[in-house]
Amino acid sequence: MSEPKVWARKSTFIFAAAGSAIGLGNIWKFPYMVGENGGGAFVLVYLICVLLIGLPVMMSETIVGKYSHGNAIDAISKTAKRSNASQWWKGTAVLSMVVIFVILSFYSVIAGWAVDYTYNFAIGEFSGKNADQVGKFFGDLLADPKRLIIWHSVFMFLTAIIIARGAQEGIEKSLGIMMPLLFIILIAVVGYSMFATGKFSETINYMFSADFSKITPMVIIKAMGQAFFSLSLGMCVIMTYAAYMRKDVSITESSLYVTGLDTIMALLAGLAIFPIVFANGMNTGSGPGLLFVTLSTAFAQLGVIGTVLGMAFFFLVIIAALSSSISLVEPFVKWCEEHFGINRVVTTFTYCFAVWAFGLITIYSFNDWSVVEFMGTEDKPLLGIGKSPFDVLDFFASSVFLPLGGLLVSLYVGWAMDKEISREQLFTLSGFFFSLWLVVMRFVVPVLICLVFVSSILGEAKTVEIIEQVTNYFH
Ligand code: TRP
Repeated sequence: MSEPKVWARKSTFIFAAAGSAIGLGNIWKFPYMVGENGGGAFVLVYLICVLLIGLPVMMSETIVGKYSHGNAIDAISKTAKRSNASQWWKGTAVLSMVVIFVILSFYSVIAGWAVDYTYNFAIGEFSGKNADQVGKFFGDLLADPKRLIIWHSVFMFLTAIIIARGAQEGIEKSLGIMMPLLFIILIAVVGYSMFATGKFSETINYMFSADFSKITPMVIIKAMGQAFFSLSLGMCVIMTYAAYMRKDVSITESSLYVTGLDTIMALLAGLAIFPIVFANGMNTGSGPGLLFVTLSTAFAQLGVIGTVLGMAFFFLVIIAALSSSISLVEPFVKWCEEHFGINRVVTTFTYCFAVWAFGLITIYSFNDWSVVEFMGTEDKPLLGIGKSPFDVLDFFASSVFLPLGGLLVSLYVGWAMDKEISREQLFTLSGFFFSLWLVVMRFVVPVLICLVFVSSILGEAKTVEIIEQVTNYFH
C-alpha cells in the first residue's frame, strides 16, 4: 500500500480547516445575526456554543479522518469495521456529500455578489451613492440573472482550478497565500474602523456587554446553528481535511486553534463593520443586507478612502469564501479519486459544472422565479419557509440537513465507534479531559443539536410557543 498522502507542513491542517471555517458565515452572517439578535447577548451565547458543541464535534470529525487517512465515506467504513459497527453509518458521509453540493451551489452565487461589489467599488461605481441608491444597486444586481451568472461562473471556476491541482499543489499552496492575506486585510479594516470613526468604544460596548434579558431560547438556538455553519461542522468536511493530517500533529491542539481562529475572525468582522455602521447613524439590525447595503452605503460616502476600503473589504469576502468553497468540493473529489480511481481533474471540472448548473436555481430565485409558489401557495408557503426555490433549498440544506448531519456524526463518534479509536487519537488529552469530551459527545451535543433541529423545522413562532407552554407547565 502506498503511503497516505499528507500535507507538506505540520500547520497546514490548521490553515485548511480554518480556511474552510472562515467564510461568508463569519464576515457576512455573523455580524448581521449579532445585529438582529441583541448584540452582546448573542455574542456571549455564541462563544459558549462554540466551546461546548463546536470544539468537541470538531475533534470528533478530526479523529475519524486522521485515523483512516481516506475520504469521508471510506473513513467511516474503516472505523466502523474496527468498531464492529454497522456499515450503514457510511450513509452519514453520503448524505453530507449531497448536502454540501447544494450548499456550494448557493454559496457560490452569494460569493459572486462579493465579486460584483469588488469590481464595482474598483471602478468607482459606488462613489457618493446614498442608502437608497445602494439599495437599488443591490436590487438591480439580484434582478439581473446575466450579471449573477457571470460572477457565479467566475467564482466556481476559481474554486475548480484550485481543487483540480490537488491537495498539496492546489489547496495547501493557495491557502498559504489566502489565509495571511485574509488576516491582513481584515486587520487593516478594523484598524480604520477603530481609529478613524471614533465609534470603537461604542462597538466594544455593543458587542461585549451582554444584556441578559435579551438571551431568549431562540437566541440560543440561532447561535448554535450559526456555530455549526461557521465551523463547517457536521458535513464531513473537516473529516476530509483531517485525512491529510500528519501523524505527529495533536488533534486537540489543532481543533482549539481552528475554533479559536474562526471565532476571532467573526469577532473581528464585527469590529470592522459596526463602528462604520454606527458612525453613519445606521441600523445594525438590517439583516442580510448589512454588508451589501448598510456597510456599502457607508463606504460609498467616504470618497476615495471608501472606494479603497470597499474594494479591500469585498475582496476579503471573496477570499474567505474561496477558502471555504474549496472545502466543499474536496470531499466528493477525494472519494472519486480514491474509491474509483477517476482522474482528479476530470472529476473536479465535471462536479463543479454540475454545481454551477444547479446554482442557476438560486440565481433565478432572485428574479424570474422569485414568486414561483414552489410547493405551497403565496400566503401559505410550504412549512412557512418562503416561496422561492432558493428559500426551499436553503431551508433544507442549512436548517434541516446540517444539524441532522451533525447529529449523526456525534452519535457515530460518541456511541457507535469504538472509544479506543478516540482514546488513541486524542493521545495528548489527560484521562479527565478525555472522559469529559466523551460525556459531552454522548449526551450534551446530541440533545442540543436535536433542539436546533426541531426548532428549525417548526419555525420560530411555533418553537417559542412550545417553549412557553413547557415553562408554564413547570411554574
Ligand atoms: N464555514 C463556512 C462559512 O462560515 C461555510 C462552510 C464551508 C460550511 N464548509 C462547510 C458550512 C461545511 C457547513 C458545512 O462560511
